[in-house]
Amino acid sequence: EKMDSEDIIQHLNDAMLPDEGKIPTYIMGSPSIHQLEKEKIFTKTWLFLGHESELPNNGDFITRDLAGYSIILNKDKNGTIRAFYNMCTHRGMKLCRADKGNKTHFTCPYHGFTFDNTGELKGVPLQKDIYGDALDKSTMALHEATIDSYQGCIFGTWNPEPEPLSDYLGDFKWYWDLLFGRAEMEAAGPPQRYVINADWKIGSDNFVGDSYHTMVTHGSIVKLGMVPSSKYSKKGYQLHTPHGHGCNIGMPNPDFAFEEHLVPEFKRNLSDEQFDVLSNIKNINGTLFPNLSFLISHTEIKGKLISNTSVRLWNPIGHDKMEVITWFFVEKEASADWKERSRESFILTFSPSGIFEQDDTEVFTDITNVGRGLVPQQKALHYTLKMGMNRTPTTNFPGPGTVYDDKFTEANQRNFYKYWLELMNS
Ligand code: FES
Ligand code: FE
Repeated sequence: EKMDSEDIIQHLNDAMLPDEGKIPTYIMGSPSIHQLEKEKIFTKTWLFLGHESELPNNGDFITRDLAGYSIILNKDKNGTIRAFYNMCTHRGMKLCRADKGNKTHFTCPYHGFTFDNTGELKGVPLQKDIYGDALDKSTMALHEATIDSYQGCIFGTWNPEPEPLSDYLGDFKWYWDLLFGRAEMEAAGPPQRYVINADWKIGSDNFVGDSYHTMVTHGSIVKLGMVPSSKYSKKGYQLHTPHGHGCNIGMPNPDFAFEEHLVPEFKRNLSDEQFDVLSNIKNINGTLFPNLSFLISHTEIKGKLISNTSVRLWNPIGHDKMEVITWFFVEKEASADWKERSRESFILTFSPSGIFEQDDTEVFTDITNVGRGLVPQQKALHYTLKMGMNRTPTTNFPGPGTVYDDKFTEANQRNFYKYWLELMNS
């Protein structure tokens, strides 16, 4: 499969008709598409890096990936969070090899240049002897990526002129608030990470709109009696906003699945409409374009319905491979017992060993596997669910976006791939 960028774009524009639900099979697991996505999507949009609660103290740092480039996300001595390109400005050595820690200074393992945690070059071994007065350290600070945050979530971009994060999130902020704005949230420990042989888009696509698969893919869980079959109902809403974002909200739910004593905090932070939706959800799952999926899911633990909140990055690390990075979040003011049960609820369902995650990732891997190569180039995938049924969006829902009043449609995937194609053309 050797095509130059223009051929690929031409082919995509001919073969890909998101509004008609037609997506060419070969875009999953293709080396040429992967190269182009890196250039057109991943170095252009805002990407999730982590959460402010992961950096509680000045000097704390975590290393993360931004579009395939290593980043040191660091809270400097003044409390400012910065994203350094993890590359020594002398001769390009990877400056920091730890996943996390606390440092006032970073010393390069190659020649020992030392940078403070604001990125300034402070020390050069034998500087006077070998450079004399010729080295201007002030021009050799660490390079930085642009970052911004919303509700404690830190996003970064390599785009030198990015659209403001607030505009990029747009109306989707209303839904993001349900996860991260309802209370002060904290990441409960470092994220879990694992690699699967699957195209990142399948994860994003599954979370953004695929409520339909649950009855079948996750059917064995019902047969085992671990969840009631009503869990997979189409009742609820599916909605999307510009920029490819979208989510599914399972409703209604008679049982309140959050800790009661947090209700005043929720009510302070959310609008009445947002609180009302949050109180009545069975689950929410969705994707913030391009590759950050999120979930509030309820599971019965020790006889009580307990919510758990998580996000996962489908981070491409090759044309047919991704690292899945999953964070579990909990309200900071929740009781220790509730935090523990919520964590248990997450581990059981959507952690790497969770019953749902196992089912899903097997599907993602197999789609990638059969879609590769020359044969599937002429084939198309079908995203036409609920098209041709003259369905119009509902106005009977308090949140913004294009909202449908049931979850079994593929409107969100069509919206996701439409924006994907727009960026690939940019
Ligand atoms: Fe870092 Fe030389 S490459 S000190
Ligand atoms: Fe699933």
